[in-house]
Amino acid sequence: MTPLCRAKAMGWLPALLVATLAYAQGQAPGAPPPPSAFDPLQYVDQLIGASNGGNVFPGATVPYGVAKAVADTDSGSNQGGFTLDGASVTGFSALHDSGTGGEPSLGNFPLFAYNACADDDVNRCAFPKRTRARFGRFANDTVKARPGYFAIALNNGPRVEMTATHHTALFRFNFSKSDQGQKPLILQDLTDLSNSRQDNATVHVDGATGRVTGDGVFAPSFGQGRYTAYFCTDFHGSQIADSGIFVDSRASADVKELKISKGINGYPLPGGAFVRFVNADNPVLARVGLSFISKEQACSNAEKEIPNFDFDKHAKDASDAWREKLSPIVIDTKGVNASFATNFYSGIYRTMVNPQNYTGENPLWGGSEPYFDSFYCIWDLFRSQFPFLTLVDPNAVEQMVRSLISTYEHDGWLPDCRMSFNRGYTQGGSNADNVLADVFIKGIKGGIDWDKGYEAVKKDAEVEPYDWCCHGRGGIDSWKELGYIPVQDFDFRGFGTMTRSISRTLEYAYNDFCISQLAGGLGKKSDQEKYIASSGNWKNLYRADQPSAFPNGTDTGFTGFFQPKYLNQTWGYQNPLNCSNIDDKSVCSLQNNGPETFESSIWEYGFFVPHAHAELINLYGGPDGFVRRLDYLHDRGITYIGNEPAFLTVFQYHYAGRPALSALRSHFYIPKFFAPTPPGLPGNDDSGAMGSFLAFSMMGLFPNPGQDVYLIIPPYFESVNITHPTTGKTARVRNINFDPSYKNIYIQSATLDGKRYDKNWIDHSFFTEGKELVLTLGSKESKWGTTVRDRPPTLGRYSDTNGTRSARDVGDAGGSLAYRSFFGPGSAR
Ligand SMILES: *[C@@H]1O[C@H](CO)[C@@H](O)[C@H](O)[C@H]1NC(C)=O
Ligand SMILES: *[C@@H]1O[C@H](CO)[C@@H](O)[C@H](O)[C@H]1NC(C)=O
Ligand SMILES: *[C@@H]1O[C@H](CO)[C@@H](O)[C@H](O)[C@H]1NC(C)=O
Ligand SMILES: *[C@@H]1O[C@H](CO)[C@@H](O)[C@H](O)[C@H]1NC(C)=O
Ligand SMILES: *[C@@H]1O[C@H](CO)[C@@H](O)[C@H](O)[C@H]1NC(C)=O
Ligand SMILES: *[C@@H]1O[C@H](CO)[C@@H](O)[C@H](O)[C@H]1NC(C)=O
Ligand SMILES: *[C@@H]1O[C@H](CO)[C@@H](O)[C@H](O)[C@H]1NC(C)=O
Ligand SMILES: *[C@@H]1O[C@H](CO)[C@@H](O)[C@H](O)[C@H]1NC(C)=O
Ligand SMILES: *[C@@H]1O[C@H](CO)[C@@H](O)[C@H](O)[C@H]1NC(C)=O
Ligand SMILES: *[C@@H]1O[C@H](CO)[C@@H](O)[C@H](O)[C@H]1NC(C)=O
Repeated sequence: MTPLCRAKAMGWLPALLVATLAYAQGQAPGAPPPPSAFDPLQYVDQLIGASNGGNVFPGATVPYGVAKAVADTDSGSNQGGFTLDGASVTGFSALHDSGTGGEPSLGNFPLFAYNACADDDVNRCAFPKRTRARFGRFANDTVKARPGYFAIALNNGPRVEMTATHHTALFRFNFSKSDQGQKPLILQDLTDLSNSRQDNATVHVDGATGRVTGDGVFAPSFGQGRYTAYFCTDFHGSQIADSGIFVDSRASADVKELKISKGINGYPLPGGAFVRFVNADNPVLARVGLSFISKEQACSNAEKEIPNFDFDKHAKDASDAWREKLSPIVIDTKGVNASFATNFYSGIYRTMVNPQNYTGENPLWGGSEPYFDSFYCIWDLFRSQFPFLTLVDPNAVEQMVRSLISTYEHDGWLPDCRMSFNRGYTQGGSNADNVLADVFIKGIKGGIDWDKGYEAVKKDAEVEPYDWCCHGRGGIDSWKELGYIPVQDFDFRGFGTMTRSISRTLEYAYNDFCISQLAGGLGKKSDQEKYIASSGNWKNLYRADQPSAFPNGTDTGFTGFFQPKYLNQTWGYQNPLNCSNIDDKSVCSLQNNGPETFESSIWEYGFFVPHAHAELINLYGGPDGFVRRLDYLHDRGITYIGNEPAFLTVFQYHYAGRPALSALRSHFYIPKFFAPTPPGLPGNDDSGAMGSFLAFSMMGLFPNPGQDVYLIIPPYFESVNITHPTTGKTARVRNINFDPSYKNIYIQSATLDGKRYDKNWIDHSFFTEGKELVLTLGSKESKWGTTVRDRPPTLGRYSDTNGTRSARDVGDAGGSLAYRSFFGPGSAR
C-alpha cells in the first residue's frame, strides 16, 4: 500500500536527484567483498529506506520476529520507528512494522535514558515525549545497523545498543559520567508512535527489583478496532538507586503504580515509570519482554528467551538466524559493483522482517494453528513478496497460509490487510485468493487444509460481507448480473468505500482467475469453468474508442482504455491519466470521494490483466501496439515504480515476445530508482514488497503471481544459486558473456539442464528440482524467446499480427480451450 495521503506528498521525487548519502554502515557501497567464505550478511544494509518515505524498520530483529528494537524518531515519516532525516530520537521501543504507509504502526512502551538528571533531582529530567526529543539529537555516524543489531549514541546521552530474540528486546545503555549528577535514569513511557493509546493503560514498578510491567490499549495503523499490548522490563548490570512513576512532566519515587486515562486534546497524557541506577560505572541492560496475552506471558517470554542478559550471545544468535535464512541464495559477485549485491541481499532481508510470527500470542482465538500478523497489505504482498518467500522459505509460507485460513475460520473472512490483530482496510480485490492460488500451484501442501482454503476463497467470490471495507468484495449482485462493478453501484447488501469501480473490477477478475486455478487443482471442474468465465469480466469495462490526452490537450496517440460504466450500462468517464505519476492533483487512495482506480491510473491498470495477455495484446493492436503502449507508460513517467501495480509492467514485454525489453526496462529502474542508500527507495517498502521486487528482478526471474510462471531475464550477477530449503536441491542461473557494466543484457540463447531452451519463462519445478539455466548474453536483442510458442501461458490465443480485431472478437477467443495450458506438465500438484 501507499499511505492515505499520496506517496508523492512524502517527497520521493528528490530521491532521484540524491546520489549517495554518507551514512554509517559496515559495508561501504562499492567496497570489494572479502576473499573469505561467502557471507550474505556483509551485503545487508538495513538503513536502505530509512529516509525519504521508505518507512523501513532498520533495527534489530530476528526473521518474522515480534520484538523489533530500534530508536524511534519524531519524524513525520516514522512509520518504521527510526529515520535518518535529521529528526530526533524520542525513545527506544520494541514493537514495529516495516515499510508501511497509513499511520505509524506500533512503537509501544518506549524507553528513554539520561546520563543523570540535573542535581540528581528526578524532576529535572524531561519525561514527556515532546520535551525529551531535544535530548535525542545524534550524529549520523553513530548509527550502526546489522542483522540482529542496532546502535546509536545520543549527543548528550548514553550510547545505546539493541538486539532481539523472538518476543524480547535487549538494550544495552552505556552511560557517561555527567557533571550534573551521577544517577543514570531510564524511563518507560505508556505511549506508541501514533499516540493512539486509549483509556486505562497501567504501569507498575517493583521497588526492590526495578521490574516494570504494564499494558495499554492502542489503535491499529490502517484498520479498525483496538489491540492490547503488554510488557515486562528487567534491568541488569547496575544497582538500583530508586524507582517510581511519572505523569506528564512530574515524577515521584513514592508512587509505584499508575493507571492513566487517554488524556484530552488528541495527545495522550504522558505517563510511565522510571528507574535510576547508583552510578554510570557499568552498562545497564534493559530486557523488554513483550506479549499480546498478558504481563505474565511478557515476563515469561523474557525469562525464557534471555535468561542471563548476555547481549553478545543474543546479538550473535540473531545474526546467525539471518545468515541461515539468506544463505540459500548465493551469487557470484565477481566483477560486480558491491552496491548491487547490497541492493539484492538487503531486499531479501526485508522480505522476512514482516509478516510477523505471533503464534502463541493471539488473544482472539486459541487452537494449534500458526498465527501470523502484519500482512500489510496483501494487495502489496501478493505480487512478489509472497512468491519470493515461497521460493526461499516455503515452510514459513505454509504457516502464513494456515494462519490466513485460520483467520477465515475465526473471523469469517480472509483478510486483504491485517495488522495488530485487527482487520485492515481492503484496497481492491480479495487478494488473499491470489496468495492461496500461488502457493497451491507451487506445490506447498504440508499442514494446509486446502478444502478449507477453497471454501474461504469461494466465499470471497460468492458472499458479500456487510462490511466489505475490511474483507471480501462489494457489489457482488452487480458483478453477477452485469459482469462489472458499476460506478455509483446500487448495493444494499454490504458497505464499503464506493469508489475504485475499475480497479475493483480488474482485481476481482484476477481473483476469480486465481480461484479457478485452485478449483482446477482440487478437481472442481465446474467451479473452474465458472471462475474462468468471470475472470473475463475485465473486458466489460474496456472502451475501444476511448482516447487519452494530456492536460494541455496534446493527444497521447493511444485509443482504447478501461472506463467506468454505470448500472444502466452507459459509460462514465475518468481521464486515463488521472492518478498517474504525472497527475499531482488527484487524491487516489481510500477517500470516500476517490476515483475509480486505486493508487494508480487507468493507463497503468490497463495492464492489470495478468491471466489473459493474449487478449489484451490483441486489444492493444498486437504485439507491437502492446509494446509501444508499455514503453509509453514507462518512458513518459506515467507509471510510478514506487507502488506495487508497477511491478509486473516492467516484465510484461515477455508476453509480446520481447523479453529483451523486459531486461532493458529492469535496468532502467535498478539502480536508478532503487539506490542502496537511506533515501534510495522510490516509495514505501510495504513490508518487503519493494525488497522482493529487487530480489526477483536481480535474480533474473520474475513471477506472475497466481500462475506457475517466472519470466526470464539475465541475472545481475554472473550466476545465482538458489538452494530449495525443503528439497535441498540447488537451482542455478548462469550467464555466459556476463558483462558487469550491463551492456550485454540480451539473451541470445539458453539451455536448461544442458538442453536448448527457447521459452522465455520457466516454472516452479526449476527451483524444487534444482535445474540449471544457462543464458548466453549479447549486446543486441535476439530471436530468443520471441515466437508465440516461447511466450508464457495465457488465456485466449496469441496472434502474431498487428490485428485490429474488435473487443467482441477477442472476447470470443478466450474460454474453455485455452486454459488447459495452465495445467500442463511441470505444474506441481
Ligand atoms: C559502485 O556503485 C556506487 C553506487 O552506485 C557508485 O557510487 C560507485 O562509484 C561504484 N563503484 C565503482 C567502482 O564503480
Ligand atoms: C543526518 O542525515 C540526515 C539525512 O541526510 C540529515 O538531514 C541530517 O542533517 C544529518 N545529521 C547530521 C548531524 O549531519
Ligand atoms: C558498552 O560497554 C560494553 C562493556 O564495557 C562494551 O562491550 C560495549 O562495546 C560498549 N558499547 C558502546 C556502544 O560503547
Ligand atoms: C477506566 O477506569 C475508570 C476508572 O476506574 C473506569 O470508570 C472506566 O470504566 C475504565 N474504562 C475502561 C475502558 O476500562
Ligand atoms: C553454484 O553451484 C554450483 C554447482 O551447482 C557450484 O559449482 C558453484 O560454485 C556455485 N556458485 C556459487 C557462486 O557458489
Ligand atoms: C513461528 O513461531 C512458532 C512458535 O514460536 C514456531 O513454532 C514456528 O516455527 C515459527 N515459524 C517460523 C516460520 O519461524
Ligand atoms: C503537452 O504535454 C505533454 C506531456 O507533458 C508534452 O509532452 C507536450 O510537449 C505538451 N504539448 C504542448 C503543445 O505543450
Ligand atoms: C445512465 O446513468 C447515468 C448516470 O446516472 C446517466 O447520466 C445516463 O444518462 C443514463 N443513461 C441512460 C441511457 O439512461
Ligand atoms: C482528473 O483529475 C483532475 C485533477 O484532480 C480533476 O480535476 C478531474 O476532475 C479529474 N477528471 C476525471 C474525469 O477523472
Ligand atoms: C507490425 O507493424 C509494424 C509496423 O507498424 C511492423 O514493423 C511489424 O513488423 C509488424 N509486426 C507483425 C508481427 O506483423
